[in-house]
Amino acid sequence: MRVLVSGGAGYIGSHTVLSLLASGHDVVVVDDFSNAKPSVIGRLEALSGKHVPVHAIDLTDAEKTELLFDHERFDAVVHFAGFKAVGESVAKPLAYYRNNLDSTLSLLEAMRRHDVQRLVFSSSATVYGEHAPVPYSEDYEHLSSSSPYGQTKVMIERIMSDVAAATEGLRVALLRYFNPVGAHPSGQIGEDPQGIPNNLMPFIAQVAVGRREKLTVFGDDYDTADGTCERDYLHVEDLAAGHVAALEHLDSMVTPVRAFNLGTGTGTSVLAMLHAFERAVGRELAYEVGPRRAGDLPAFWADPTRANTELGWRAEKSIDDMCADTWRWQQANPQGFPDA
Ligand code: WQD
Repeated sequence: MRVLVSGGAGYIGSHTVLSLLASGHDVVVVDDFSNAKPSVIGRLEALSGKHVPVHAIDLTDAEKTELLFDHERFDAVVHFAGFKAVGESVAKPLAYYRNNLDSTLSLLEAMRRHDVQRLVFSSSATVYGEHAPVPYSEDYEHLSSSSPYGQTKVMIERIMSDVAAATEGLRVALLRYFNPVGAHPSGQIGEDPQGIPNNLMPFIAQVAVGRREKLTVFGDDYDTADGTCERDYLHVEDLAAGHVAALEHLDSMVTPVRAFNLGTGTGTSVLAMLHAFERAVGRELAYEVGPRRAGDLPAFWADPTRANTELGWRAEKSIDDMCADTWRWQQANPQGFPDA
């Protein structure tokens, strides 16, 4: 299929572009490069040996989005594009609602006008809110989120569900990610957050490569085995494969829209992840225990049964694979992707 990947220069988007190409699909990337560098595209072409057409447009511009669909034919859309920093969304809610919702609405309108009937959406486990029983199941109906970022995911899932119900033939997969980490085994692409990393794995990687002095563990007094929070970390390569599986499953879906958890079904603590990274690096890494971070939940992980059985997808890579691949990427790219 010829697939439009929005946000295709981003962390998960770029890994998914490689998986789509490796599976024989053609890919066109649209990205505004507000949170990714153009040099990513050259890496994707070198790794895949294929040309990756790119349109550097802002999807909140409905006119430019329509023109894109006028000039190119797409069989499907995989929609990653959006602002994704939880803390930033609390400080800038309007920017998050405007960007994440308008870009989605532009895409959905262009898809309708051009009869594009397959859509895979990058959602998040954050939509389960703070009260869902663990492991999280897609049957849980009381979706919510404590951050504007998470609320945009809840709203977009609802928008897509309503549009799918009203559009004959449209099929939508809502992929709820748990905690994506790791990097392509080549070490040529990986997670490259701008500024101080919010997330655990890139922060640990930057300590290991000498960009940060030490990790601060946000609390070790939680009701967990070692007192630190537990999350369901999954390798970005497994996550990318999940998008290909979902895309290729759409035509056989009996319901217009369906959510799928993409996770391993296992929780790993902050300290366990830190020590796994130390094994990858071969030395201890400096850390201190600090206060809890507001909004953090003690422990959650996925029930991945639906994706396992309906998509034929299962996370295969281990915590040690995640750390080894992240370390290879960070060592080869201590400052992340080049600017040019
Ligand atoms: C994991 C654990 C922290 C940094 C977030 C978003 C979620 C999704 C994935 C987009 C927590 C601890 C972290 C640090 C630490 N993003 N930690 N020191 O919060 O589970 O999920 O990223 O979809 O929406 O909320 O991931 O990596 O930020 O934190 O101790 O310097 O690591 O307290 O327990 P989180 P995270």
